[in-house]
Amino acid sequence: MSPPAQRFSPLDPGSSEPIYRQIYWRFRDAINAGALAPGDRVPAARALAKELGLARGTVDSAYSLLTAEGYFQPRGQAGTVISNGIRPGPGATELEGTRHAGDNCSIRDKSPVLPFQMALPALDAFPRKIWAQIGARCVRTMRMQDMAQPSVHGLGSLRTAIATYLQVARGINCAPTQVFVTTGYRNTLTLIAHALLAPGDRVFIEDPGYLPTRQLLGHLGMHAVSVPVDSDGLLVAHALDDPLGARAAVVTPAHQSPLSVSLSLPRRLALLDWAAQQNSWIIEDDYDGEYRYISRPLPALKSLDRQGRVLYAGTFSKVLFPGIRIGYLVVPPAQVERFEKIGQMFLGGCPELTQAIVATFLTEGHFARHIQRMRKLYGERREDTVKGLKEALGERVCIDSQPGGMHLILRLPQEQSDTALVARLLGAGIHAEALSDWSIERKGDSGLLLGFANIQSPDVARQLGQRILALM
Ligand SMILES: Cc1ncc(COP(=O)(O)O)c(C=O)c1O
Repeated sequence: MSPPAQRFSPLDPGSSEPIYRQIYWRFRDAINAGALAPGDRVPAARALAKELGLARGTVDSAYSLLTAEGYFQPRGQAGTVISNGIRPGPGATELEGTRHAGDNCSIRDKSPVLPFQMALPALDAFPRKIWAQIGARCVRTMRMQDMAQPSVHGLGSLRTAIATYLQVARGINCAPTQVFVTTGYRNTLTLIAHALLAPGDRVFIEDPGYLPTRQLLGHLGMHAVSVPVDSDGLLVAHALDDPLGARAAVVTPAHQSPLSVSLSLPRRLALLDWAAQQNSWIIEDDYDGEYRYISRPLPALKSLDRQGRVLYAGTFSKVLFPGIRIGYLVVPPAQVERFEKIGQMFLGGCPELTQAIVATFLTEGHFARHIQRMRKLYGERREDTVKGLKEALGERVCIDSQPGGMHLILRLPQEQSDTALVARLLGAGIHAEALSDWSIERKGDSGLLLGFANIQSPDVARQLGQRILALM
């Protein structure tokens, strides 16, 4: 791995401070601001001298001083690193660009995966060996043209593989030209909004519901109107009664996010009717429809769409892994041309090498096998997690029995604040989410959302349950 890029403002040859001291201070500033941390490699002196157009000796002088003062630690062949124990300075000025207002994320380290973290598939069960073999093959067979600009709407082989998969697995009849490859759900939703919606448009969303949907629509100037959800999914009648109507509705019919209930058939039909009559759009967010444990997966809402009103948003984040950043959108045939035009503006294309790997994974049958294995594994892990948590928490909590999805809802006593508990759990290294944080208008329910896909045994769940109990 190459050392992190440093941010050097131009050196000033007219300054009374010698150049080597200016370099010295730039490293000190970077350390003070936290842009360089213990263990980070610094560039080789020769490479840095070349980059800055300086004599090697000038950079050597700066490095010697930093080493003598204990900031740098030479490690022979392994290069030079920032010494252990060096911490950002108190009151240090932050370097421009190292942090942004409101951005609490480290730019360097990815946090480790925590127990119960949501939106993660079973990372230990991913078929890495097959993935690596396909990856190596795709790299080896890369042609010149594969290194040129990517196809904006997605790699042809992947669009075709997705169309075939959707036909077989989700009951969606679509041509590859209707499939647009994106970098994930938000990219998909942004594209739809630019193509079909306008600022000020009202859009029905689920309450409780997936926060990024509400946030993104709001940011794009749309008016997100919350519609309650019950055990049959979105209360469609509520939406139909709204005299102001809406230009679109965003729904998660397979497993409502976060309650994991399914949208009933009568409501699906009523929603489709509404869209056809009002010329409105339905955005189907089918983020984990494959993972249903009590029966075969339900066909997608899109499979019932005879009037061309449903835009289907799929993602590989749950069925492969979220770091892959590949999602897709299926648009009605009449909208293909419009999305091609808008896509030229808003889609820059996705990495083609990754698309080629995914396409091969699908066409060679690994994807179907992987999903089948995961469905079985998640069914078991869900049961194990419920068992372990019940052993630890007893009657104090109630766990919803959803037909599918990748998280459990642990209902808390009403007087218990889920947000406060979540903060305490995070402090103890457990990543639950608070149900009330997903609610917009109905703030009543207190509960924990717990991803179970990475909980490997009832024992682990029981121990985690005991830690939750201690913090309740
Ligand atoms: C409700 C919902 N929609 C969509 C997604 C997929 O998002 P992305 O494709 O950006 O990873 C997720 C992932 O967690 C989700 O929970």
